Amino acid sequence: MTRPLRAICVAAARPNFMKVKPVLDALEAREVETILVHTGQHYDAAMSDVFFDELGLRAPDRHLGTGSGTHAEQTARVMLAFEPLVAELEPDWVVVAGDVNSTLACSLVAAKSPARLAHVEAGLRSRDWTMPEEINRVVTDRISDLLLAPSPDGVENLVTEGTPSDRIELVGNVMIDTLLANRERALARRAAAAHGLTPGGYGLVTLHRPANVDSDAVLSGLLDALGRIASELPLVLPAHPRARANIERLGCPARLTLIDPAGYLDFISLESEARIVLTDSGGVQEETTALGVPCLTLRENTERPITIEEGTNRLVGLDPEVIVAASRQVLAEPPGPRCPALWDGNAGERIASAIISRR
Ligand code: UD1
Ligand code: UDP
Repeated sequence: MTRPLRAICVAAARPNFMKVKPVLDALEAREVETILVHTGQHYDAAMSDVFFDELGLRAPDRHLGTGSGTHAEQTARVMLAFEPLVAELEPDWVVVAGDVNSTLACSLVAAKSPARLAHVEAGLRSRDWTMPEEINRVVTDRISDLLLAPSPDGVENLVTEGTPSDRIELVGNVMIDTLLANRERALARRAAAAHGLTPGGYGLVTLHRPANVDSDAVLSGLLDALGRIASELPLVLPAHPRARANIERLGCPARLTLIDPAGYLDFISLESEARIVLTDSGGVQEETTALGVPCLTLRENTERPITIEEGTNRLVGLDPEVIVAASRQVLAEPPGPRCPALWDGNAGERIASAIISRR
């Protein structure tokens, strides 16, 4: 009897947990033997454990405990811990998601092992090489055997770069699988009310990109813009650990309420009922599009242009005047839902099919 197909699924940081859950479920439903590996890149309860609890993710089968560090330290530590695991477990596939340092580290190990490598969220490009994520994405895609793209622009980027077309599958957006599966539970949390906010009467903010929060000059400008918007509409900001100290040091404007990083259900609840979202997150650009909530992206570029072309996102950059003007414009318009094709809750199934069909 042949042994069942065996896949290691890698999770590492906050935006991975909601991506790995539907893939794991769909693979298991098809009797693939799965091993869930947590690299430990994010480790605070609010950045990791809460997602396992709320999404019903089983405890990781293996935890690499690698933690924070410089890019080289973090990447190297994950590689050192992951390599013997791959040798021991002899998976047929290693499945990585997104663009964090652990994605790159595990991809490099898998590509030099007998296992095949599948990349969930392949093909996204900001074309901004100052972003560590762009380097992680491009290298991961270049060495993957199976490129699972969330949107047609991803496929187009890969084809333009010379990726053989038989390696590419347009599967849709797996993050939206988790959003749709949990939306009702999230709405029942009424998180806005718990923070003294009125549904539809506040804005939600997230900031964590190094280019935004590690530079006092940029962060001061963003806080200035947020302060001016907050004078018209209260804002709530669940603060990523990377950002909190700098925001507090520079001074948090009145009516911009800093809270701890939100759990998944509370965050989706806050996002669903917000009048506007201002963010530099990748995943939040996608979720707001799927929810039909207007989003201003506080960056000069995005690897997710489909959220602008077919969604509710606007790229507004970092100039406080432009941000405030865009916010006023959005608040004057009625919100309207728009959602790209294949962001339909079935991306995990399509990913499992793509993997199994290449057995
Ligand atoms: C990482 C990803 C980024 C992703 C983000 C999602 C890389 C290069 N960056 O950025 O693409 O958008 O996660 O949130 O992989 N920290 C804690 N507790 C934690 C985790 C981190 O306090 O549980 C603090 C540490 O001081 C750490 C810093 O945050 O040094 C940065 O963490 P790190 O994982 O390196 O990068 P993020 O900014 O979280
Ligand atoms: N998120 C969350 N709590 C928060 C902020 C974000 O649960 O306080 C969720 C959000 O709903 C999305 C994911 O985290 O599913 C996005 O992760 P993040 O913004 O950290 O990373 P990025 O997508 O930019 O890589």
